Amino acid sequence: MSKRTKIKALLESTQTDIQVTVMGWVRTFRNNQFIALNDGSTNNNIQIVVDFENTDEALLKRITTGASLKVVGQLVASLGKGQKVEIKATEVEILGDSDPEKYPLQPKKHSLEFLREIAHLRFRTNTFGAIFRVRNSLAFAVHKFLQEKGFVYLHTPVITASDAEGAGEAFKVTNFDIANPPRTESGEIDYKQDFFGKATNLTVSGQLEGELGAMALSDIYTFGPTFRAENSNTTRHLAEFWMIEPEMAFYDLEDNMDLAEGLLKYVISYALENNREDLEFLSQRLQEEEKSKPQNERSEMSLLDKLQFCLDNSFERLTYTEAIDILKESTPNKKKKFQYLIEGWGADLQSEHERYLVEKHFKKPVILTDYPKEIKAFYMRQNDDGKTVRAMDILFPGIGEIVGGSQREERLEKLEQRMAEMGIPAEELWWYLDTRRFGSCPHAGFGLGFERLVLFVTGMGNIRDVIPFPRFPKNAEF
Ligand code: 4AD
Ligand code: MG
Repeated sequence: MSKRTKIKALLESTQTDIQVTVMGWVRTFRNNQFIALNDGSTNNNIQIVVDFENTDEALLKRITTGASLKVVGQLVASLGKGQKVEIKATEVEILGDSDPEKYPLQPKKHSLEFLREIAHLRFRTNTFGAIFRVRNSLAFAVHKFLQEKGFVYLHTPVITASDAEGAGEAFKVTNFDIANPPRTESGEIDYKQDFFGKATNLTVSGQLEGELGAMALSDIYTFGPTFRAENSNTTRHLAEFWMIEPEMAFYDLEDNMDLAEGLLKYVISYALENNREDLEFLSQRLQEEEKSKPQNERSEMSLLDKLQFCLDNSFERLTYTEAIDILKESTPNKKKKFQYLIEGWGADLQSEHERYLVEKHFKKPVILTDYPKEIKAFYMRQNDDGKTVRAMDILFPGIGEIVGGSQREERLEKLEQRMAEMGIPAEELWWYLDTRRFGSCPHAGFGLGFERLVLFVTGMGNIRDVIPFPRFPKNAEF
């Protein structure tokens, strides 16, 4: 199998009249002569010209959409439109047949809903090829940005006994007969008799463990899967998603915001530079999709312009309280005022409020800080007003919350007091509290939802289309 050249490299080749070997999957086969072959290195296919008069009839019949081939031939300048080079085949070998009657992917446009049902094959479409190459670049860029700043990539556990966010949305890990579980005297399932001797769950966030690392290594980040058994029947939620969680000692909230904004801008610019072709394809795709919407709902900016705009403008920074004041003044549609007016200060912002701030009022990414403590997690640093905490959420156009973070409460007494108020048992987090007992220091961090980032950069509308194998209620087939 050696000496194979990837199609992307061939299409960019300045050399012709050389012998090459390619391998890939047939996209189309026209006139018993022209194969469009793709190997996933680019959305562009290479055209292969088959000398059909001198090729066995039986072999020609096996060149069908979806079949995998090895082709040896001459790379020559193409006379046809649309491609600079093509391959004149001297040898075609079928590596894997594909029954055209049964192959679900036809050379036509399939709906995203249909493709979700065949997630095992959707990688072979142009849209998903582009999405997953962009996703790959974004992941690489995250590591590159943080590594170059001297951050240590720390692997935090997937199985844990804590629920960092305290939202009760953790998936339980059980290792006993689920049909006949051990029970306590009161008849409840006794998770303490499990493999670990205590109740465990899949992690909702690596933050608490990340903090332990930061308070020795200074700057760390996690980048791994996290799990939430929340309602993920939305276009923005998954039951399993990847999160990047930097945690930095000796950082305050300002430093935290600067790092998050810098990271987001870096990875977006990295994709624009390194995935231009794929992003142009996705931008085009989005423009086609926009055409089916009524004129007044169409986006004014192309995907590429939107990404560039995000790089060229600083994110708007304001407090939750200031945001509420703006929302109070606003009447998004003449008749209906925002829901929060009924609920008042202290209520969590609904997505329609976030969208108004980002898309209508500021028209750019927004960082909201200093939220009411009641709607945020126990570990956030309390402000002197006794009402708010040093939280920050970054809101993106079309996405809503993309980052959630805070400066952490480094004062032992304040932290213990808040945990007690929220009913979080101190004994369970003794190891976390130890960092506040021994050399505590100001520190901060945030979590960037990786799929929400990929959603923004690819311009896709549903989070299930930017992760290879989405997990959501009633869906764990692939
Ligand atoms: O705001 P969250 O819940 O924050 C934390 O978990 C903190 N412990 C992070 C930290 O400070 N280290 O989640 C962070 C981000 C959200 O802003 C969102 O982008 C993403 O994770 N997220 C989800 N993405 C997809 N599906 C879900 N169900 C998500 N829940 C959160
Ligand atoms: Mg959040």
